[in-house]
Amino acid sequence: IRRFPYFEHLDPVDLAKMAPLFITREYDKGTTIFLEEEVGDELYLIQSGLIHIYRNDENREIILSVLSEGDFFGEMALLESVQLRSASARTIEKSTLYVLKRRDFIGLLQQNPLISLKILETTLGRLRKANELIMDLTLLDARTRIVRTLLRLMEQHGTPKSDGILIAFKLTHQQLADMSGTVRETVTKVMLDLQYSELIQVDKKMILVLAPDKLRQSAGM
Ligand code: CMP
Repeated sequence: IRRFPYFEHLDPVDLAKMAPLFITREYDKGTTIFLEEEVGDELYLIQSGLIHIYRNDENREIILSVLSEGDFFGEMALLESVQLRSASARTIEKSTLYVLKRRDFIGLLQQNPLISLKILETTLGRLRKANELIMDLTLLDARTRIVRTLLRLMEQHGTPKSDGILIAFKLTHQQLADMSGTVRETVTKVMLDLQYSELIQVDKKMILVLAPDKLRQSAGM
């Protein structure tokens, strides 16, 4: 747990005391961790893997966020009085999570104001992104929304390569559609166009952004 940015300032002795509170849990790819509206009693830290935070009805799904190594989720049901999950969570790759019970999480926050501040900072960043998403979904056309989704994924999960920035996990057109509030067919069209314009390259469902600045410009950013 020392590798998590939330704990890096902690004294090794305090860390050693904390470690036994975390339970390690392994999940196969495609496992639902919890569903929206369920009562929640646990916080999750991602040791490895990939998680989608999403909401859905019978017909459609919206992927609110993609979380990876070093991220946490599940804090809202533990801190809000309703105690219900605000969204669902599932693994997109085989994942290892550290699980912390509510009572231990609250104790940790009470004893470590710095951890509380860091968690607050992260959740405010998520609120800021959610506000952006509201603007995008309300005001922008589908192509621009898709391009902005790619840019967000690149900023959050991208690894620099010699010829661009790689979003280092597989993405289906359906997933991109569910992140952009559009349909798969539209994503397919836009992705072909972006490849034709040499703004991105796709290899085995992984996206390499060749020209981040041009892509930003084309999305009015
Ligand atoms: P909780 O409501 O307990 O369960 C769902 C979790 O998903 C929530 O806590 C947050 O940790 C996370 N979450 C909810 N909405 C968003 C969002 N818009 N962006 C990123 N993470 C979110």
